[in-house]
Amino acid sequence: MLGTDVIHILLIEDEEYDVGRVRSTIEPFRNQIVIRDVASTGSHALDLLKAGSDRYDVVVMDFQIAGGIMGEDLIREVKAIDPSLQIIIVTKMTVNVTDFDFANRLLQAGAYWYCTKYPGDIDTSIYQPTDFILSLYNAHQKRQLERERLRSATRMTRTVEGLLSQKQILGASARMEELRRQIRKCADSLAPVLITGPSGSGKELVAHNLHYHSQRKLEHFIPINCGGLPHDLVESELFGFEKGAFTGASTRKLGLFEVADRGTVFLDEVAELPAGAQVKLLRVLQDGEIEKIGRTEKLKVNVRVIAATNKHLAAEVEAGRFREDLFYRLNVLQLSVPALREHPEDIPIFIGHFLRQFCVDMNRDVPAVQPDAMLRLQSHSWPGNVRELKNVMQRLLFDPDDVITAASVELALGTRRSESGRGDAGGFTFAAGAEATPLRLIERRLREEYVRYIRARSTSDADAAKKLGLAPPNYHRMCKELGIK
Ligand SMILES: Nc1ncnc2c1ncn2[C@@H]1O[C@H](COP(=O)(O)OP(=O)(O)OP(=O)(O)O)[C@@H](O)[C@H]1O
Ligand SMILES: [Mg+2]
Repeated sequence: MLGTDVIHILLIEDEEYDVGRVRSTIEPFRNQIVIRDVASTGSHALDLLKAGSDRYDVVVMDFQIAGGIMGEDLIREVKAIDPSLQIIIVTKMTVNVTDFDFANRLLQAGAYWYCTKYPGDIDTSIYQPTDFILSLYNAHQKRQLERERLRSATRMTRTVEGLLSQKQILGASARMEELRRQIRKCADSLAPVLITGPSGSGKELVAHNLHYHSQRKLEHFIPINCGGLPHDLVESELFGFEKGAFTGASTRKLGLFEVADRGTVFLDEVAELPAGAQVKLLRVLQDGEIEKIGRTEKLKVNVRVIAATNKHLAAEVEAGRFREDLFYRLNVLQLSVPALREHPEDIPIFIGHFLRQFCVDMNRDVPAVQPDAMLRLQSHSWPGNVRELKNVMQRLLFDPDDVITAASVELALGTRRSESGRGDAGGFTFAAGAEATPLRLIERRLREEYVRYIRARSTSDADAAKKLGLAPPNYHRMCKELGIK
């Protein structure tokens, strides 16, 4: 009748006679319900639980026992040792069975259920036996569920920690220390955050850190590139639509704000948001409600909004391209990420980190950076910021040499053409054996050089995209990935 698992009980009962009555109550289920231990005092029970609460599923306890800790205090202490343990209280019938306040106090203290004893001396079963057996069974189920919930929460926390370690904000400068401090301070606030800073400086990284340091870390983090979506699709991507909302809406579509419910939405390149979507976003920030296309009543959502831009948003407002009211709503907390040239003391740290990271990927030794090469890297102005530095490190590693010289730095920075033909379009050198370059890196380099080549021979981005056979958003994404801009 019951499940297949054996239910292990810790019985807290000080009267032999009552212990016997519990035993006879569960006797018909002896294969499935087992009293592991009997403790005659509260402190003995707590010692047993501290030694191994995993040995028990359900604690059955007499409400009034002699000596020391008992009752609600004991319930609380048991729960403090192991919150997933379930407790069933047994009380004398002398306690009024309609005393709701008493029952409520027990539940508040952490009990799962309470049963009453039969009055008089019936030694076969003192409890209402079926109620008792069923409550044991249900308590055991709840114990399993609670344990599973705790296990998966632990697993998810570990995943988040792993993610955060990959998304670490590096840098030992005061500016970076301050940025990390601000992130920790803002993370748990519900207020919108506007992240500003030049391209490649780490805004997206900051957004990740805000989410994964917040209490929402186990919920969705949904990044949306407002500049990468075709204008006529932005609203339906963000807010979704109902089936039949317009011709072609053959099914209902969830908007990203709905998907992110209870989590975080990251609006990257927010300055690119078209006017219509700006109005709707304003409403989400004001009322916490979204307007789905084709739906009359609004939908409540609970999302934290983080936005980023490399534009001067106040100037966009001045120029009439961005709504002022929306600007104020987004700009409640502001995090400004500095350009790399504003914290040049971090450059060697970034260099070391990215070289090590790529070398692990490529399964090769980390090359030494010669002092004059390091000086050259430190004096570069880094218009593309950390992203540019990361790309330059990758480019330097195309060379299998175990030292990085000033000359190879010039080449990688694109400031000098190689005499050997390297750095020109098509100037690939190949090596076989241990130092062979992984295909992935060669492909990347080919893409980079070819895109640069075509760009240099095009009248506009649109023209280059067309020649390359790419849709403009894909073209822009690719350029960004390749560090071309
Ligand atoms: N402080 C930092 N520590 C480690 N890595 C960083 C740091 N800052 C930036 N990066 C790395 O540099 C690259 C660019 O960062 P990110 O994409 O966050 O820049 P961004 O400011 O969002 O740029 P854009 O405005 O072009 O979107 C990423 O690979 C990121 O991991
Ligand atoms: Mg970005």
